Amino acid sequence: MSSTAVGDEWKNPLRDKLDKRLPRIAGPCAVVIFGVTGDLATKKLMPAIYDLANRGLLPPTFALVGFARRDWQDEDFGNIVLKAVQAHARTPFRQEVWDRLNEGIRFVQGTFDDADSFARLKETLDKLDAERGTGGNHAFYLSIPPNAFPTVCEQLSTSGLARPEDDRWSRVVIEKPFGHDLESARSLNKVVNSVFPESSVFRIDHYLGKETVQNILALRFANQLFDPIWNAHYVDHVQITMAEDIGLGGRGGYYDGVGAARDVIQNHLTQLLALTAMEEPVSFSPAELQSEKIKVLSATRLAEPVGENTSRGQYTAGWQGGEKVVGLLEEEGFSPTSTTETFAAIALEVDTRRWAGVPFYLRTGKRLGRRVTEIALVFKRAPHLPFDATMTDELGKNALVIRVQPDEGITLRFGSKVPGHAMEVRDVNMDFSYGSAFAEDSPEAYERLILDVLLGEPSLFPVNQEVELSWEILDPALEHWAALDADGGKPDPYESGGWGPESATEMLARTGREWRRP
Ligand code: BG6
Repeated sequence: MSSTAVGDEWKNPLRDKLDKRLPRIAGPCAVVIFGVTGDLATKKLMPAIYDLANRGLLPPTFALVGFARRDWQDEDFGNIVLKAVQAHARTPFRQEVWDRLNEGIRFVQGTFDDADSFARLKETLDKLDAERGTGGNHAFYLSIPPNAFPTVCEQLSTSGLARPEDDRWSRVVIEKPFGHDLESARSLNKVVNSVFPESSVFRIDHYLGKETVQNILALRFANQLFDPIWNAHYVDHVQITMAEDIGLGGRGGYYDGVGAARDVIQNHLTQLLALTAMEEPVSFSPAELQSEKIKVLSATRLAEPVGENTSRGQYTAGWQGGEKVVGLLEEEGFSPTSTTETFAAIALEVDTRRWAGVPFYLRTGKRLGRRVTEIALVFKRAPHLPFDATMTDELGKNALVIRVQPDEGITLRFGSKVPGHAMEVRDVNMDFSYGSAFAEDSPEAYERLILDVLLGEPSLFPVNQEVELSWEILDPALEHWAALDADGGKPDPYESGGWGPESATEMLARTGREWRRP
């Protein structure tokens, strides 16, 4: 084994390589969750923290602090975390891991507008620093409604928790929605940045934590095969779909008035577009990656006329998975006159040399045919087909489909000769599937993202400017729908279990295209 001399030190190159491959372990720290009684904390955050501990990626000095109004002791909160872990953790339950984690669990009872509650939070954290060795490093996870962000940020600032001294760190983690349009996003960002410098703000878009989303970078920039055809010369259009089969019963409080476009297109789907359409970054440093995303988002805009390039819908009763389900307006928590859309589709144009003339269609919806997220690059037809027309009757357009979930992988769709005497060409699929190609299970997006927050690794978190650009792209659609509402308009109805309203089909049919049926 050879070694390399570096100054007076000896460095083992193999060791170096190994260090880069092994996941890094977080240093001493405490995570404070605001909004511990919410769905996100129960189903995703607490289980992800346990999974990280179970994978040995949290230090023995780690602490988890819950902050809520409930009259709980540390033990009560510990039991809540335990239940969440047992119900939703990805990795097997191990008593010794849980016992170690549980030793660092604390609860602070309080309300957001009460300075004393934050003084108690500070005391608790100081005590953990002294007794458990959390090192004065704190991540504040705001899993709370955005209208509470300013109050909590200000309280963290006045209690002296936002700007620690020396080399300690204080980071704030913000869940979407980051505002409800460009203007509100700007003022929200202003408030957050008045307390935390941008380098300490981690905005979660959990799609960026998914393995298949990170694989877009590998697919595009580690291979020679795809880049030559990844442009307007070969690609006819791109379809980015995030379909869900679930309805919104019980989520009215958050969703009514927000709708599909703000909930999913503004963040998850716009980020998928950015990764699909951006140029190769000079390196994968956070700044270079963000700068390419910002460049492509600056060149992206809603296609015009807006009315023909947008579609919104609301699910009505129907059958799904063999069960009769109710429409949105009959769901608990929704006003029977709600105009909140549960389906949204928009057509975007990316004004760059690579993409000029290639529409990017983004669509999302609840109560659709099945749960699936995919990015499909649909290619132009061959310029000349040396076959009789009947021979290629069943040949569609070639497509490269990145299957984000649930059946993670990549599909290449192309024409092939049907066996037999005649020359008949039909579409076939060539598949790569994560499940069969790799033995490892993918970590949950939240495991990856929480660990990155604790490591101070910002690559997978959209910065301020990305968020504002995403609103700038979406705002004309939202304004168009608001104007329709003001005239007594409503989203188009679509039956539960189908693929959205007729207006979405028409949106593509106008240019002779059609949506994929994943
Ligand atoms: C969230 C949306 O961001 O993503 C939800 O608010 C949606 O409405 C969820 O259900 C879907 O996430 P995933 O990871 O299951 O695709």
